[in-house]
Amino acid sequence: MSQLKVYVDSDYLQMAAHLLQGSKQRTYDLMHIRPGQRLLDVGCGPGTDTIPLAELAGAGGEVIGVDNDAAMIAEATRRAEAAGVSPWVEHQQVDVTTGLLFPDNTFDACRSERLFQHLFHPEQVLAEMARVNKPGGWIVVLDTDHGTKSIDTPEVDIERRLARVATERCLNNGYAGRQLYRLFKQAGLVEISVETISIPFTDYVLCRQANFLDRVEAEALSAGVITPTELQRWRASLERAAAEGVFFASGTGAILAGRKPESTKM
Ligand SMILES: C[S@@+](CC[C@H](N)C(=O)[O-])C[C@H]1O[C@@H](n2cnc3c(N)ncnc32)[C@H](O)[C@@H]1O
Repeated sequence: MSQLKVYVDSDYLQMAAHLLQGSKQRTYDLMHIRPGQRLLDVGCGPGTDTIPLAELAGAGGEVIGVDNDAAMIAEATRRAEAAGVSPWVEHQQVDVTTGLLFPDNTFDACRSERLFQHLFHPEQVLAEMARVNKPGGWIVVLDTDHGTKSIDTPEVDIERRLARVATERCLNNGYAGRQLYRLFKQAGLVEISVETISIPFTDYVLCRQANFLDRVEAEALSAGVITPTELQRWRASLERAAAEGVFFASGTGAILAGRKPESTKM
């Protein structure tokens, strides 16, 4: 059972969905979805993607979303009903670290977004995604590389220390985005494509929320990585930049797509 170090609720995920709208659409494109297909979203959250997937698969298809959080599953189910797609969309509460409860070769395509950053062993979940996907089916994973997050500030040393705290102490696997190419190769997937995504922030308040900066600063303080005086200096530098209208931060992620080979047994 993996414990989330940073809990994200459905409101947070709604904000993130807005920031990532284009990248989400790109993951659907890379799944090469056709009407009538059976699709899987692993770590589906509140149904942010299962509902668009259901629209692409159509009423003759089937979409399953799995997530271990009961509140996410309840919200996903509510949203599917409101969107009128619930007859062919199902959300199941499952801890994916214990495996995916589907037979081999069940799905035409599957995806996972920003789940691997929470997993100590993402390779096990990727292997399960490959197992339950049909031969030739596409697997698409989007994840963040929290180690690339940067904020323009004169307090560069504090900023670098906080970036490491965010990546290494606030998430189980904060470097997930940079690992995806290796994981796809090691999983034996073929026709692998790699794309990177970048998210800029010029809105200080939004940046704090999206990057859970309150949580990161508190963790850094309690771990002795920064002192209270350094925290004050750091905050003052960001607030000054915001007040002057020059605040800037960014971070990157990756989208990997690959196919389960047609012939070999995985
Ligand atoms: C950052 S959210 C992304 C949600 C969704 N993919 C999206 O893009 O909106 C990560 C999701 O992974 C789920 N999750 C984390 N660990 C999990 C596990 N072991 N099994 C299943 N779901 C898990 C969380 O509950 C959360 O909904």
